[in-house]
This record gives sequence, C-alpha cells and structure tokens, in this order.
Amino acid sequence: MMRRTLGRSGIEVSAIGMGCWAIGGPFHGADGEPHGWGEVDDEESVRTVHRALELGIDFFDTADVYGAGRSERVLARALAGRREQVVIATKWGNVFDEATKVSDGRGEDPAYLRRAVTASLRRLGTDYIDLYQLHLGDLAIDRAADLLGTLEALVEEGKIRSYGWSTDDPGRADAWGGAGAHCTAIQHDFSLMHGSRPEVLEAAERHGLASVDRGPLAMGLLTGKYRADTRVGPGDVRGGGAPWMVLFEDGRPAPEYLARLDAVREVLTGGGRTLAQGALGWLWAVSDATVPIPGCRTVAQVEDNAGALEHGPLTQEQVEEVERLLAA
Ligand SMILES: NC(=O)c1ccc[n+]([C@@H]2O[C@H](COP(=O)([O-])OP(=O)(O)OC[C@H]3O[C@@H](n4cnc5c(N)ncnc54)[C@H](OP(=O)(O)O)[C@@H]3O)[C@@H](O)[C@H]2O)c1
Repeated sequence: MMRRTLGRSGIEVSAIGMGCWAIGGPFHGADGEPHGWGEVDDEESVRTVHRALELGIDFFDTADVYGAGRSERVLARALAGRREQVVIATKWGNVFDEATKVSDGRGEDPAYLRRAVTASLRRLGTDYIDLYQLHLGDLAIDRAADLLGTLEALVEEGKIRSYGWSTDDPGRADAWGGAGAHCTAIQHDFSLMHGSRPEVLEAAERHGLASVDRGPLAMGLLTGKYRADTRVGPGDVRGGGAPWMVLFEDGRPAPEYLARLDAVREVLTGGGRTLAQGALGWLWAVSDATVPIPGCRTVAQVEDNAGALEHGPLTQEQVEEVERLLAA
C-alpha cells in the first residue's frame, strides 16, 4: 500500500486522500450561484467513506463551508468510532450560514479563526484536527501572517496537529512555508490537465511541505466520462459562471480540455489503468511530495480511484510522453 508523509509533520497518510467537497451537497453564494456539486445522498456518502477505509484510504479532506457544514457532519458520522485510524483535514475562512446554506463573506482575523476551529471540532465530533487549512487562497500575505500566532497556539493547545494554506500562489506558499513552524502542507489545484504552475509545487518542496493536490481529476474530466454533449446536473458548480471555471463551459466540458484528454488517453491507460488511475499515477510520478485528494461521491468512484494505489506512479518515460503530447 502506497503511503506518504504529510510534509514535515511526520503524519503518515495513504498516498491518496478522499476529497469531500461534493458530499456536502448544495450550498450557494448570496447571488444564488451554486457552490456545491448538486444533490447527494448521505447514505451513499457514508458508504463511500467506509469503502475508502476498506481500500486503505485514511486521509479525508473537507472544509467547514462544503454544504455549509454538511460535509463535516456526514464525515463525522461515517468516521464514528474510528477517529484514531484516520487523518482529517478541514479548512476555514469562508463565512456561511448552516440554516440558509448561503456562503457569503470572509473570516480573515484571528478571532474568526478561533470561532471556526471550535465549530469544526464540534461538527466533526472530534477534539483535534490533523491538518487545518486556510481556505482564502488570495488573502494578503501580511493578513495571513497575523494568523500564524493563533495557529501555533492551537497546536500547543492540541486542537490542531498542523496547518496549511490552500492557495495557488507560490509567494503565499513560500511565506507560510518559511514562517510557520507547524505549517506542513500547501493545497493547490494540480492535475496533468490544468492547475497551478509548477512554482507552487516547487515552493512546497523547498520548504518540506506536502503538495495536497485538489482537482486531481480536473473536476471529473480526467475520468473520461464527460463528452462534448454531456451536461452536468442542476445546481452543480461546474454549470455556474465563476471566472475560474475553465474546465467546463455552461456545464459542458470545454473542448480544449477534451482535446488534451484525447491526446494523453493512451499513455494514461497503459498497463491496464483506468484514466483516473493514470491521472493519479501522473501526480505521484512528478514529485514525492504530492498527495492527490480526488473527490468521490459514490462507492464506484472511490473503488476506481483507490485502484490507482495498486498501479503506483507512472514511469518517468510516461511523464515525459504526457508532457510531449500536451505540448503538441
Ligand atoms: N479551494 C480549495 O481548497 C479546494 C477547491 C477545490 C477542491 N478542493 C478539495 O479537493 C477535492 C478534489 O477536487 P475536486 O472535487 O474539485 O475535483 P476532482 O477530484 O478532480 O474531481 C472530483 C469529481 O470527479 C468525479 N469523479 C471522481 N472520481 C471519479 C471516477 N473514478 N469516475 C468517474 N467520476 C469520478 C466526481 O464528480 P461527478 O460524479 O459529479 O462527475 C467527483 O466529485 C475536493 O473534494 C475538495 O476536498 C479544495
């Protein structure tokens, strides 16, 4: 079973985690824009977490805002009685209302951080969080520096074991990697299809941090199930008009990315891998620091993604071939 160490924390995790954004179900901005992935069935979500555990996945990434608290609550339900066997990562920074499911506003200061960690601990039904991540990827570096003292105090108090920043900016990764004693991970958008520049990975490596890779399947595109005429369901963030939503256009896969997928399909599926397994194997092959966290919303998806653990990383020749094909 492939395992990795989460940066300099010494915390060991399965080489993939399970992303828990989609299992939070619907929530939205004040303008009604969907921030979730449409409706979900909590029973299937719990079964998915249990199947993940059976398959050796012991790292779960959620956020307080996913489903306006629902993702953390469902995860707590699924993990009841198994707290010692798992590593839980969650995030704070987006202000939301559990009743209305509106996420609107930012909690940037140390007092908000204190309130957020208390609320996440309660929803998760635990007395410690293994990896606590700042969810505001664009927070000014000096404002973020004001949070480090409180984060270190939370480590001292035993409420968190380590912390990180979810950001696609190498300058921010450098700032916390250099200044935060218990900073152990940078979470960033990273897949062979798309994502933050290699500079973020390099910053993480320079400081001995884990690269926790979100969007490792390019929001589902890299599984091959989305075709030119497929449209995502109602209330799905992929059908919204957020400026950063480049992989999908009006809920359909963007043609440019479908073409990229076609170019690398054969390499990724070599050796009997599925496309998703090839995409995860690519991430492992590019660095020892990477820990992809594919989002899973069904038992079938987690089974497919966990299958990547048996195949392991792509070879360096395959990585070079992917690079060559994408450049062409
Ligand atoms: N700012 C942040 O901090 C941030 C932002 C984004 C994500 N994240 C974290 O990163 C995690 C992963 O990113 P992501 O969920 O955006 O994207 P992803 O992992 O690239 O894609 C996940 C989606 O792909 C589909 N899928 C997954 N495995 C599949 C399989 N084997 N076969 C077919 N379809 C499959 C599912 O959606 P469908 O079934 O609906 O297609 C799933 O929700 C999130 O869950 C979250 O924990 C954090």
